[in-house]
Amino acid sequence: MKVLVLGASGATGSQVLLQLIKRKVETRIIVRDGANISDEILKNDLVEVVRGNVSELNEQEYCDLVKECDSVVCCLGHNITFKGIFGKPRLLVYNSLRNVCEAIMSTTEKRFKVVLMNTVACENIEIKEKRLFAERAVLWLLKGLIPPQLDNLKAATYLQKEICRNNEKIEWSAVRPDSLIDSSEVMPYEVYESITRSPLFNPGKTSRINVAFFMVELLMSDELWTQWKGRMPVIYNREE
Ligand SMILES: NC(=O)c1ccc[n+]([C@@H]2O[C@H](COP(=O)([O-])OP(=O)(O)OC[C@H]3O[C@@H](n4cnc5c(N)ncnc54)[C@H](OP(=O)(O)O)[C@@H]3O)[C@@H](O)[C@H]2O)c1
Repeated sequence: MKVLVLGASGATGSQVLLQLIKRKVETRIIVRDGANISDEILKNDLVEVVRGNVSELNEQEYCDLVKECDSVVCCLGHNITFKGIFGKPRLLVYNSLRNVCEAIMSTTEKRFKVVLMNTVACENIEIKEKRLFAERAVLWLLKGLIPPQLDNLKAATYLQKEICRNNEKIEWSAVRPDSLIDSSEVMPYEVYESITRSPLFNPGKTSRINVAFFMVELLMSDELWTQWKGRMPVIYNREE
């Protein structure tokens, strides 16, 4: 097994990497200049480091990126700065995910698992989720006003509508945490088919390390994968 981790320098992506290293899984990461990533990770024999920017690769470079891998975890997200939110690339997650999926479909014979880190702010359009009218209205506005919201929506919709559930090369799962918090260890968590609380008016918490742990478990456990492939699991920290 070899896992391509996108966004490995980020707060959740780095936790995914650590979880994979802990399980002795080989990984490939792509990091841009100035990314904050520890020497411990960069020098780890299980980690292959590609220098570059995932949003600036050409078709061939995407094909090289997926070569020898059989799974992808995408934890890309816009930096929380004015430039990160409103500057280019506006569709960082969607474009990178789509390019990776196209590279998989055009080059490899293997069946890939693709796990996308998404958000409870994105609705699962296949199951008619219960949402308050006011919440739908605000999320609709945010989609127009805040580019990362549209980006996350397009990424999830790409998996649901274009990759679908019967793709010959790609199986996928889009994991949806609520408000992210940092924690040093994996704590009990709960996973649901749909939101159980309003992301805007009664948000829950999800530790990044829990998201990372669950995403890696998805890759490692056939049973869990069978349960959640083609779906958009929502993950919350268990409340005390
Ligand atoms: N905040 C929340 O409460 C919340 C809740 C649910 C879901 N989410 C979603 O969770 C995802 C990840 O969150 P996080 O906190 O782990 O993210 P993060 O720490 O900000 O990590 C973002 C990753 O994306 C990379 N990246 C950002 N801009 C880039 C660009 N222009 N080109 C190439 N790479 C770029 C970063 O690389 P560098 O290190 O090089 O910058 C980093 O590896 C996001 O999509 C977010 O929407 C957030």
